Amino acid sequence: MYFGADYYPEHWPRAEWESNALLMKEASINVVRIAEFAWAKMEPKEGVFDFSWLDEVIEVLSKQGIKVILGTPTATPPKWLSDKIEDIYMVNEFNQVRGFGSRRHYCYNNSKYKEYTAKIVTALAKHYKNNTNVVAWQIDNEFGCHDTVRCYCNNCLKDFQGWLENKYKSIERLNEEWGTVFWSQTYSSFEEIILPKYTVCDSAVSASGLNGRKRYSHNPGLLLDFYRFSSDSVVKYQKLQIDIIKNCDCNQPINNNLMGHFNQIDYFKLGEDLDFVSWDNYPNNEWGQNSMFSVSMAHDLMRGVKGKKFWMMEQQSGPCGWNSLGDTPKPGQIRLWTYQAIAHGAEGIVFFRWRACPFGTEQYWYGILDHDGIPRRRYKEIKQIGSEVERLSDLFVDSKVLSEAAIIKSYDNLWSHQFQPHNEKFDYNSLLIQYYTALGTNNINSDIVPYNIDFSEYKLLIMPAFNLMKDDILQRVENYVSGGGNLVLTFRSGTKEWNNSMTIKTLPGYFKELAGVTVEEFDSINFGREVQMFTEYGMGKVLMWADILKPISAEIIGTYASDFYEGEAAITVNSYGKGKVYYIGCDLEQEVLNKLLEEIALKSGIKPLIPNNIEGVEVVSKEKNGRKYIIVMNHNGYEVEIHLSGTYKELISNIDIDGKLMLNPYEVAILETNVG
Ligand code: GAL
Repeated sequence: MYFGADYYPEHWPRAEWESNALLMKEASINVVRIAEFAWAKMEPKEGVFDFSWLDEVIEVLSKQGIKVILGTPTATPPKWLSDKIEDIYMVNEFNQVRGFGSRRHYCYNNSKYKEYTAKIVTALAKHYKNNTNVVAWQIDNEFGCHDTVRCYCNNCLKDFQGWLENKYKSIERLNEEWGTVFWSQTYSSFEEIILPKYTVCDSAVSASGLNGRKRYSHNPGLLLDFYRFSSDSVVKYQKLQIDIIKNCDCNQPINNNLMGHFNQIDYFKLGEDLDFVSWDNYPNNEWGQNSMFSVSMAHDLMRGVKGKKFWMMEQQSGPCGWNSLGDTPKPGQIRLWTYQAIAHGAEGIVFFRWRACPFGTEQYWYGILDHDGIPRRRYKEIKQIGSEVERLSDLFVDSKVLSEAAIIKSYDNLWSHQFQPHNEKFDYNSLLIQYYTALGTNNINSDIVPYNIDFSEYKLLIMPAFNLMKDDILQRVENYVSGGGNLVLTFRSGTKEWNNSMTIKTLPGYFKELAGVTVEEFDSINFGREVQMFTEYGMGKVLMWADILKPISAEIIGTYASDFYEGEAAITVNSYGKGKVYYIGCDLEQEVLNKLLEEIALKSGIKPLIPNNIEGVEVVSKEKNGRKYIIVMNHNGYEVEIHLSGTYKELISNIDIDGKLMLNPYEVAILETNVG
């Protein structure tokens, strides 16, 4: 298994490379990612390529058995290049140019920039195609980081018009799909089409607007297509680089480092052209802390992108921030985060960064080593992880996460909800995390999957707020349920067509027959109002949305207990074919949802991995060649006692565990089942 660090040799004197490599080796580091921002060093002047320093560092590393993941440097076009292309920079919706001075300062649709991209990538690929020390490629770096997916420049305008023409073929069709008859927005040709820039009705500052939410006034069909086009532009730019590397006969696999829950690129599409994906995980930094389940779900999404293992290309290894710092990882936390990644399917771990850099924007971003390069507590912890991973790697490589449940994520739905959230408090991704958390709290693993796969391996399928709908998706879901699957739908499902217009079908639209209900009325709950709801799992508050349901064939399992719809149905279950469809018509407090999903999972034939739920304890079930094991992780800063049914062997310590497992703060146990 690859275990390593993000290394920037160009930031350090040549004389230190050997000692760096030795120190790495001592910590079981066998791979580094390099060069992804080093364009100015690789091509200091136009057409003058210098890879000699790279060759040298690769050679130094290889002497210690350390391999390299090579980044294409296109996230940081150098100054000489940026000055050459007048319109290289992205433009925001207020027509402001997003210029030089940080990174990612280019537009994906700039054809001149694509030519320069092709030149540097070709030169790199030709130079390193036969280098056996280069074991993988990374394309660019974190596409979309710093809000760099949607650009409003003239090149994007032209490409957007072409993209639309290709999609709709005739302008009449586009007018019909978008409903441009509304407010006289009818277009007579594709050349007339606009980008959704600042209008009379928009708020002047993107972050302001209603309750800090941006206000969108553009035609929802246009907006959604612009979001799709922007995401596709990134996919296309990435493909340009992938094709070059492949056409140069490079055999090394190609990856890109994604950003977990980042929401401006359809990661399922971005992943299609890659050999594997990786992602960058900073659970605790200047900008906030991520909950245990939010991080786990991001891991599961990354696994879901290609339905297979992934890498951590940047795993937090120190306190970090740009202008101020997040918390310092506590003793054991880096190890815990590493096992969390491995548990969810990471098969390569690269820590960001080898050593804190004394200059530049990221002076405060600490890595394995501090600025002075002296190995301290964090280095020792990583060394320990390195030796454990080396010893246990057989168990992890090509292992499978065993999930009996899945949650569908759709970027089209995410975008549509983003600019029209139905209720100011609604957030699509938070709803997904809430359902994921409910399963996780009950010690049930779930996969995060796109809508276009075969769902038959799952006992339970959750499709939160799947609002934009179309026939082929209905067909898939119907096949799944008829065949015996259990489906959970929620409020705001099926109210729209795929083009982002409201459906004129009776709600829940496409889902009506499956759910066996109609939504007679709804209540968007605002201004601190609360509605009471009642199920056999307890009373709960509804704070955001209440669908008032009328069963056709469904049975009622939850009822409203206040307001004008007191006594009406809130949650139902319908038998359909051999399966069942649950319709949860309102938002639920986490505890109520936990209990409800525990019950639904049990009825769907899913048993929890361990019997007791302890806050802050996470369990993941895996299998390798018929060997089954669970990884139990204590994310709490205190000791916990976990009751187990049966006997296990703990594989890090080789100790037998019978009935009771004690876990220290941030401790991890790998328990093999069916032993003895
Ligand atoms: C990531 C990025 C790295 C580094 C790190 C810390 O988003 O890929 O290059 O910038 O964050 O800011």
